[in-house]
Amino acid sequence: MAALRVAGSLRVPGDKSISHRALILSALATGSSRVTNILQSADVRSTGAVLRALGAEVPELSADFVVRGNGGGAVRAPATDLDCGNSGTTTRLMAGVVAALPVTARFVGDASLSRRPMRRVARPLEAMGARVELPPHGGLPMIVHGGSLHALDWQSEVASAQIKSAVLLAAVVSGVAASVTEPARSRDHTERMLAARGVRVEVTGNRVTVAGGAALHALDLDVPGDPSSAAFFAGLAALAGDGELVLPHVCVNETRTGFFRVLARMGASVEFTNMRVEGGELVADIVSRAGTLHGITIDEVDVPSMIDELPLLACIASRATGETVITGASELRVKESDRITAVVNNLRAIGAVAEELPDGMRITGTTKPLRGRIVTHGDHRLAMSFGVLRALPGHEIEIDEPECVSVSYPGFWDDLRWCTR
Ligand code: S3P
Repeated sequence: MAALRVAGSLRVPGDKSISHRALILSALATGSSRVTNILQSADVRSTGAVLRALGAEVPELSADFVVRGNGGGAVRAPATDLDCGNSGTTTRLMAGVVAALPVTARFVGDASLSRRPMRRVARPLEAMGARVELPPHGGLPMIVHGGSLHALDWQSEVASAQIKSAVLLAAVVSGVAASVTEPARSRDHTERMLAARGVRVEVTGNRVTVAGGAALHALDLDVPGDPSSAAFFAGLAALAGDGELVLPHVCVNETRTGFFRVLARMGASVEFTNMRVEGGELVADIVSRAGTLHGITIDEVDVPSMIDELPLLACIASRATGETVITGASELRVKESDRITAVVNNLRAIGAVAEELPDGMRITGTTKPLRGRIVTHGDHRLAMSFGVLRALPGHEIEIDEPECVSVSYPGFWDDLRWCTR
């Protein structure tokens, strides 16, 4: 079979986490913020719609637009439920904002989002003085009764940027101080963007503190490429037989780049070049080349900085030599799907060797052609991870809901076709 050559230069869309935060903080700031290269996907649209329902002047997403902030004022009680679609980030970050406003709002979402745990965000917001109503299973619908909040020093049981951001946003909107300590450092885009907008932010180890009372100022922002989207193509290039792929202008904040470090540890050639700081975030061009990959051990130290890339890593491990063991990743069970069970079952369904662990999985690489049907459960990252395997020569893999990639990367299939042209 002819080797796959993956070569050229591919610009991936804007970072999802930064895009959500750009919309929220621009809407809350005093003055106009210009946002360029925002991710135009279903999840970010959910955040825009929720902000609009609360009275913010957020235009429809486009490559270049201006948000006129209301300085935290001019809010209105939403006339309808706040529909967060599939987006956990929209729900949890906006729960923090609503908790600090004099309104009551009911958060709803699709079947997957409605099953996801919200008590983890309700608890600190209640400790700040908000009232939150949850159904017995702890998911959606969630009703948040906001009001004036008090300062909080919160110890989070899980490393989660969504929990941390909910507390920080609630504090900033309320004008009070807050600290969040995590068991490991989660992505830090909220604190970076708050600092860039004039909030005093202090970071000591895994603890972040925001001072109370600062107003958010407007900030023009060019959203860098999403490392979680770049990962699919860096992984594909590493698995290919030949070629060099350049992924320009990607956010390489170290709380997000665990996947690339692990890929290099597996034997891939992956480099960050042309590193620079833009808008408070480290940005680079990622260069990935074909390599010979071997299995690896991934534990709780590696997991937070590659949490969204673990399904992809598992797919890549199925084509590496030897065994890969992932542990310390029980958070995968509460993502858009149970990503431990779903990844293992799908790998097995196409003939790969995989086994579930309580907090991770064990995968043994194989060279045999993979054949079968992937059940994505509507999970965008499962569709794209198995899409990478499907793109390799000799495999016959069908994906049940390919359109679910619209959550984070609407152009994914076109970009994948271009890479394997
Ligand atoms: C995100 C945080 C992570 C990540 C999600 C985006 C964010 O979730 O998995 O895709 O933008 O804050 P957790 O906070 O649940 O770890």
